[in-house]
Amino acid sequence: MNLGEPSSLTVSKIRNGTVIDHIPAGKALLVLRILGITGREGLRTAVLMNVESKKLGRKDIIKIEGRELTSDEVNVIALVAPSATINIIRNYTVYKKLKVTIPQEIRGFIRCPNPTCITNRRREGLVTRFRVVKREPLTLQCVYCGTMITQEELEDLISM
Ligand code: CTP
Ligand code: ZN
Repeated sequence: MNLGEPSSLTVSKIRNGTVIDHIPAGKALLVLRILGITGREGLRTAVLMNVESKKLGRKDIIKIEGRELTSDEVNVIALVAPSATINIIRNYTVYKKLKVTIPQEIRGFIRCPNPTCITNRRREGLVTRFRVVKREPLTLQCVYCGTMITQEELEDLISM
């Protein structure tokens, strides 16, 4: 069944890979950025934006053929798409369904906005680390320099 998917914009089922469903409308491109998907990897990927959803009114969906997400990636998606459902597909069936949860700490994926932060010195080659200091509204703090970032700032700091 294709319930929840638009009849006029039907995208075929995938064989093996990941379907990220219930993404807040308009956030699909941010999720792709988190996953580092540019289109140059050659993975067959479908991106549906602003389609009808029973639960959300409108939602985005991403289908990636040939890639299963890691738990780190799933957790970082929670920062921009807390309502997302991750479906791992094997042999055309939903093998696993995961809810995303905001982790206590995020390693990598986000740049520190402080230009003098040690993580912005290329030669150090450090992976960024942010602690989640507040969930509502989302507030992160750089472990290295103490800089705070808010939900709105976060979207511009996702590294690609
Ligand atoms: N899907 C897919 N390819 C498959 C299996 C599923 O693209 N081989 C997609 C479905 O189209 C749907 C999502 O993966 O968008 C989740 O599938 P399923 O659990 O069957 O759908 P729902 O029951 O509607 O999911 P939920 O309860 O999470 O809303
Ligand atoms: Zn910093």
